[in-house]
Amino acid sequence: MTSPRKNRDFQTLRPATQLVHGGSARSQFEETSEALFLTQGYLYDTMEQAEARFKGDTPGFIYSRFANPTVSMFEKRMALLEGAEAARATASGMAAVTAAMMGQVRAGDHVVAAKALFGSCLYVVEELLPRFGVTSTLVDGKDLSAWRAAMRPNTKTAFIESPTNPTLEVVDIAGVAEIVHEAGATLVVDNVFASPMLQRPLKLGADCVVYSATKHIDGQGRTLGGVILASEAFINEHIHNFLRQTGPSLSPFNAWVMLKSLETLPVRVAQQDRSAAKIADFLAGHPGIARVIYPGRPDHPQRAIIERQMSSGGTLLAFEVKGGKAGAFAVANALSIIGISNNLGDAKSLITHPETTTHQRLKPEQRAALGIGPGMLRLSVGLEDTEDLIDDLGQALTALESRKAAE
Ligand SMILES: Cc1ncc(COP(=O)(O)O)c(C=O)c1O
Repeated sequence: MTSPRKNRDFQTLRPATQLVHGGSARSQFEETSEALFLTQGYLYDTMEQAEARFKGDTPGFIYSRFANPTVSMFEKRMALLEGAEAARATASGMAAVTAAMMGQVRAGDHVVAAKALFGSCLYVVEELLPRFGVTSTLVDGKDLSAWRAAMRPNTKTAFIESPTNPTLEVVDIAGVAEIVHEAGATLVVDNVFASPMLQRPLKLGADCVVYSATKHIDGQGRTLGGVILASEAFINEHIHNFLRQTGPSLSPFNAWVMLKSLETLPVRVAQQDRSAAKIADFLAGHPGIARVIYPGRPDHPQRAIIERQMSSGGTLLAFEVKGGKAGAFAVANALSIIGISNNLGDAKSLITHPETTTHQRLKPEQRAALGIGPGMLRLSVGLEDTEDLIDDLGQALTALESRKAAE
């Protein structure tokens, strides 16, 4: 008798179940935990079999630069979660972003992107693509009329992050998708900040979603990785060959770590999200804080769009400490649980000062336009006890107040 487990269609199941079972391909040993296939290549029984596999006439692995059983399990699990027809894993989030953009364009094409982008994504759009004859326009992502005005007959693709880093601005994904499609272009969404648990850009009209799997997907600070998710046609036309021939592949070891991490993604993100909401409320009520930006709060300026496209506020928040850079530094330096790091989406809570770290490369006027002030800190909320995190922030803010009083 064949076990009903063998033929189960995971597409009809809910995310938590998909993330534990989806995409698994068991070896002849029927292992419970997915196997780690550390191999570069594969053997063929005969030359005829090798020929057929290279021609694509028979399925099977050829070389791990472009397909590996462990990487393939990770890709299938991600595709199930995202509701995408296909996925390709990459060595890092930036490899995913670069392939998603470069795989689509040719010299003479035009790209539109929101101004509020992660620095390396901005580099790809503003500096790398123009070197190959692809022009780009940057717009205020929040302004749909700016998107409309930026479209040209040769616009091939558009790129956004939402919520943005670090000011947690929200872009109307469905609104931008409509404008981009009217112009005959595609929309790529970097969904890192929301994570696949809280926002599904493909359902909102995006053509392609990219992740730094380094963030919530690994979520425990160990491995770098990235994923590109889209329709089968998009992957075949723009991504598959680009990755196969240029080689930014995800290591099977990293894929295995992330495959196991996906099993706990829903519980991790749910807990981090609950904590972030409580911490945002605590900070908003603290006299030492000038402003809190958190997509889950009713005072977020784009609340209506957030309600349409995110299922919750997320694991990241930004806040402005009274007292500018000195105040922000004093608070971050006084923390004893929350670590100082520019990474995010981790089990460990991490804080960074965007002006002097992640966004240091921007000109002061660019930072001002994005609302990144000297007193701003970005907090990625981890899995520690919420009350311990609030106590840690509370004692750091009290230390700042006492320092100010003594001056
Ligand atoms: C929004 C966003 N996109 C892309 C990346 C790049 O990911 P990776 O560091 O995995 O290359 C990062 C973080 O580094 C990010 O925050």
